[in-house]
Amino acid sequence: MNPEKPMSGRTVLITGGTAGIGRATALGLARLGAHVAITGRDRGRAEDAAREIRAAAGGRVTAFVADLSSQGEVHRLAGEALLTLPRIDVLVNNVGGYWRTTSPNWPTSCSPTNWPGDIRTGSSLRMHCTRAS
Ligand SMILES: NC(=O)c1ccc[n+]([C@@H]2O[C@H](COP(=O)([O-])OP(=O)(O)OC[C@H]3O[C@@H](n4cnc5c(N)ncnc54)[C@H](OP(=O)(O)O)[C@@H]3O)[C@@H](O)[C@H]2O)c1
Repeated sequence: MNPEKPMSGRTVLITGGTAGIGRATALGLARLGAHVAITGRDRGRAEDAAREIRAAAGGRVTAFVADLSSQGEVHRLAGEALLTLPRIDVLVNNVGGYWRTTSPNWPTSCSPTNWPGDIRTGSSLRMHCTRAS
């Protein structure tokens, strides 16, 4: 194993890799040798980010487009990622949000249908990728 590229041979799917924490995580993991796959809602922004990460870190960077506030999009992304990527070793559920438990929309009982969208997004992507792999 190359000690400078300990993530070599690993594929990491990072939701929301076009900006902020997700993008920094993608860049760091690409520098460690991982094949990183990022997601964003806009094709141009996602491709630009992938190109910039590739230029800075080298290696393989794949961009996917999906709005993860939609359950249908979560399913579609999971299917596309599993078809396109050689494998998924790590899933970084970065897309989400901050929900105050005092929010009037905060559910009083928990089931996947009434979870706030942010929580549903991460949970269902994980579930679909895990089920399909
Ligand atoms: N920054 C903080 O201090 C902080 C603190 C605690 C927790 N967090 C959590 O950490 C995560 C990332 O925060 P950040 O500050 O790095 O955010 P950010 O800079 O706003 O980046 C958000 C990323 O998520 C993507 N995204 C947003 N909504 C999306 C949606 N509906 N579907 C698909 N992709 C979506 C954006 O992509 P596009 O805009 O290109 O679609 C972008 O790549 C969030 O879950 C946030 O709640 C952040």
